[in-house]
Amino acid sequence: MSRQILVTNALPYANGDIHLGHLVGYIQADIWVRFQRMQGHAVHYVCADDTHGTPVMLRAEKEGITPEALIARVHGEHLRDFSDFGVNFDNYHSTHSEENRYFAEDIYGKLKAAGLIDSRSIEQFYDPVKNMFLPDRFIKGECPKCGAADQYGDNCEVCGAAYAPTDLKNPFSAVSGAKPEMRRSEHFFFKLSDDRAVAFLRDWTQGSSASGTRRLQPEAANKMKEWLGAEGENKLSDWDISRDAPYFGFEIPGSPGKYFYVWLDAPIGYFASFKNLADKAGVIDIARFIDGDRAGESELVHFIGKDILYFHALFWPAMLHFAGYRTPTQLSVNGFLTVDGAKMSKSRGTFITARSYIDQKLNPEWLRYYFAAKSNGSMEDVDLSLDDMIAKVNSDLVGKFINIASRCAGFISKRFDGRLGVSDPEALAPYRASLESGEVARAFESRDYSRALREIMRLADVANQYVNDNKPWELTKQEGQEARMHTVCSTALNQFRVLAGLLKPILPGVAEQVEGFLNIAPLKWGQLIETLPAGHAINKYQHMLTRIERVQIDRLLEANKASLAPTTDSANPQRHAESQQKEAETQVTASDAIAIDDFAKVDLRIARIVSAEHVEGADKLLRLQLDIGEERPRQVFAGIKSAYDPALLAGRLTVMVANLAPRKMKFGMSEGMVLAASGEGPGLYILSPDNGAEPGMRVR
Ligand code: MSP
Ligand code: ZN
Repeated sequence: MSRQILVTNALPYANGDIHLGHLVGYIQADIWVRFQRMQGHAVHYVCADDTHGTPVMLRAEKEGITPEALIARVHGEHLRDFSDFGVNFDNYHSTHSEENRYFAEDIYGKLKAAGLIDSRSIEQFYDPVKNMFLPDRFIKGECPKCGAADQYGDNCEVCGAAYAPTDLKNPFSAVSGAKPEMRRSEHFFFKLSDDRAVAFLRDWTQGSSASGTRRLQPEAANKMKEWLGAEGENKLSDWDISRDAPYFGFEIPGSPGKYFYVWLDAPIGYFASFKNLADKAGVIDIARFIDGDRAGESELVHFIGKDILYFHALFWPAMLHFAGYRTPTQLSVNGFLTVDGAKMSKSRGTFITARSYIDQKLNPEWLRYYFAAKSNGSMEDVDLSLDDMIAKVNSDLVGKFINIASRCAGFISKRFDGRLGVSDPEALAPYRASLESGEVARAFESRDYSRALREIMRLADVANQYVNDNKPWELTKQEGQEARMHTVCSTALNQFRVLAGLLKPILPGVAEQVEGFLNIAPLKWGQLIETLPAGHAINKYQHMLTRIERVQIDRLLEANKASLAPTTDSANPQRHAESQQKEAETQVTASDAIAIDDFAKVDLRIARIVSAEHVEGADKLLRLQLDIGEERPRQVFAGIKSAYDPALLAGRLTVMVANLAPRKMKFGMSEGMVLAASGEGPGLYILSPDNGAEPGMRVR
């Protein structure tokens, strides 16, 4: 029977770039969705930007634009990042939308009617210069424990102590630098400590949904036990769901100047995006997916990272349940990404943005494959080991999988006019057996993609062994072996077809190329067991996937090394579940002077101009190739055409910035910057080092 599934991914904050850490959960979800669709199930897959809150408000202010303009720009960037990685949402909406306002007000109203909303006055830090209450992350001061200066209001990055912002010594506002005052104000609370809520959550977090699947992975269920405390104990506190103006969000009905806290309306954004999709599509019965009394007719599956488990396993189901909506069928919680065993780091260049990966021309399917190979359906952290990724992609994907087609396709096109012969059922038997056992399908269903890939690679080995044993390249030279050779190559291509089908949720792009090459309709799971018959015409083989070279990875790291380009996201993944507001870039700038460390971030190098040429269609630019002692010269576009004859530049030495994030220009990538002096009048002067300087030397 066809299942009806609504799948969501966590909504990324609208104040940061998508990075490879984010992509772990998005790729896991996208694979699951593609798998379910290949099974013939009806899946709606939605996401949105999480737009509300103080960080977005302040960031927009800093950029001199409205929050609406900021979130519109970021919406475009995020959507492009996801689609470039093959993460294909049916809808990518926004929490700043009318649909979201409707659901937020509805849920809030119902919780209030159920007697689960309280109001009381609380005391909080207030910035008297900015005239606003300060979220914990916007208060800094000296650590109460170790005395370290310039620490955030919730925990110390030096000694690791956790505390309340009121514990900080000499606190100051990270927004204005002012000394904060304590002020009182009225806040609304969702009464999570209410007996009804506690009883409901004890049951919900440990149980299974109607379909029999556990709602939470075992590690997540255990975490919940800890948070909820033992039977009879009540460890939950009420949840503060309001914020005072100025705030970018939805004003609470009947309470002027009070806004819903961003985390109240964020998960509601899942429904808002779905409603927006349903309104556009016109055929989706939305009630079937969200009404409390129709929960048995559909599934609701949320993919999230482990840092936001608290919100999705406590607040969210309780809100839904007591407002009469259905609760999630399952949460799929992913661990955090580390790179080469360590936290992502801007200085090492391992804080890799999705955009830089695409700009550096790395293949997104390499990453999808590697993340799949490292995903086992648990909450464990995922390590992106760069050398291991290169080895796995090159040996498994290119060496084992693609290789089957590249070894056999040529014979079929050249010798048999592109038509397959009879396949060998015996060689296909292990494939049939594996498909009948359902092993790969079960592994995909439980999101244990690494297990699925182990079985798929075992089958790839079977095919390679078969080709090695039968040696079509020798058969082709032997008299009377024509038919045998035809069978061997046709069988191998049938094996290849099954592998492509099994890999399709992970590698949609490659699978599409295979479908084109084999001249077949889009592969569906149930049809994999069939065999392409003798006489079936295939197309000419074209190379489908290249190997990764280490230099490509090195360039990627180089492009992500902390540069003077503004950075947008917090690198610290160990965020407190309770203080989720990400810090925006609101460090106080004391003066215009920079510290020596800031200067040291600029990697200046002596460069030899290998060549210089005019760029067609550009009136200011010259295209330079600059040797700085690396394997190949860097291409840099420099705006010096008015001052220099390219013929006279070749061979001379100058100075370049080597760690500027590469920039995609109309004419190609610019991988650095050449320094030049200029004054008020015309005239541009590039720099020359003294005699003795050599390409690659650092300038400091
Ligand atoms: N806006 C909230 C989610 C609201 S959902 C109603 C948020 N946004 S986020 O941009 O910080 O993160 C988006 C998703 O990426 C979350 O699932 C988060 O856990 C995940 N990750 C963010 N950094 C990550 C890593 N370094 N590694 C793995 N997942 C990471 O949280
Ligand atoms: Zn400390």
